Amino acid sequence: MDSVAHRLSAVGAGAALELRGVTRLFGALAALTDVTITVRPGERRAVLGSNGAGKTTLFNCITGDFPPSSGTIRFFGEDITQFPPYERIRRGLRRTYQISALFPGLTVQDNVYLACRGVSRGRFSFLRPGQNDALMHATDTLVQAVHLSAVKDQRVAELAHGQQRQLEIALALAGAPRFILFDEPAAGLSPTERRELIEILTSLPSHIGYIIIEHDMDVALRVVESVTMMHNGRIFKEGLPREIESDPEVQELYLGGGHE
Ligand SMILES: Nc1ncnc2c1ncn2[C@@H]1O[C@H](COP(=O)(O)OP(=O)(O)OP(=O)(O)O)[C@@H](O)[C@H]1O
Ligand SMILES: [Mg+2]
Repeated sequence: MDSVAHRLSAVGAGAALELRGVTRLFGALAALTDVTITVRPGERRAVLGSNGAGKTTLFNCITGDFPPSSGTIRFFGEDITQFPPYERIRRGLRRTYQISALFPGLTVQDNVYLACRGVSRGRFSFLRPGQNDALMHATDTLVQAVHLSAVKDQRVAELAHGQQRQLEIALALAGAPRFILFDEPAAGLSPTERRELIEILTSLPSHIGYIIIEHDMDVALRVVESVTMMHNGRIFKEGLPREIESDPEVQELYLGGGHE
C-alpha cells in the first residue's frame, strides 16, 4: 500500500465501526438514507426503531449480506464496503439473525463445535468431534459462557426458545470476534429468559463491542452504553440510554404506533 492510501485507510482508525453516508435502495424504496454512525472498540450500542425503520438493513449493509447502494463502511479503520461477508467474518465481525440459523438435528455441543471448527484454520480437515482438544476446549468455554452446559448433549430441536437464542450467541462468539451484531435476541423470550440474556450479554469480554437491535427498551437500555434511534431509514436520535428514554420525541414515536 502506498503512503497516501495507507493514510486514507487510517481515517477513522480509532473506531471499531464507522459508517458514512450509507444509503441502501430496494428498487424505489430507500431502506436506509445517509446513515452515519461511529462506534468505538468495545462500545455497546442499541439500535431502536419501529418496524421497517431500517435496522436489519443496517446490519445487512455492515455484514455485506446486502452491500450499501452508496456510502462507506470501515471496520477497525479498514474500508470493508465492498468486501464479501466471509472477509468481514475473517476480520472479527459476527452477527446473529432475527430468524434462527441453527442445525436443529444436532446437539448444542456439536453446533458450537462446528462453528469453532468453521472459523479455525483446520476447517477442511477430517477430524471428528472429540479428536481436537483445543477446539473441544473452545467449545466448552462458549457453551458455558451462554449458560448451556446443563443441556450440552441435547438436540437443538428439543431446546426452549430462549436456549436456542443463547446458542446463537455462542455461535457468534466462535473464533475471535471483535464486534457482534445482535438482531432482536430477546424476541419471544419469557421474563426469566430475558434476565438470562441480559446476564450473558453483560458478562461478555469487555473488548467485544456490539450493536443490539431491540424493541424492548428495558432489555436494550440495560445492556448498552449508547443508543441510536432510527426512523424511516434515517438516524433520528443518538444519546445515552437515560437521555433517549426520557426524550419526549422518542417517547412519542414509540408510543405513537408503528411499533409492535
Ligand atoms: N430484501 C429486501 N427487498 C425489498 N425491500 C426490503 C428488503 N429488506 C428490507 N426491505 C424494506 O426496507 C425497509 C426496512 O426494513 P428492515 O427489515 O431493515 O426494517 P427493521 O427496522 O429491521 O424492521 P423490523 O423491526 O420489522 O425487523 C422496509 O420497508 C422493508 O420492507
Ligand atoms: Mg429487523
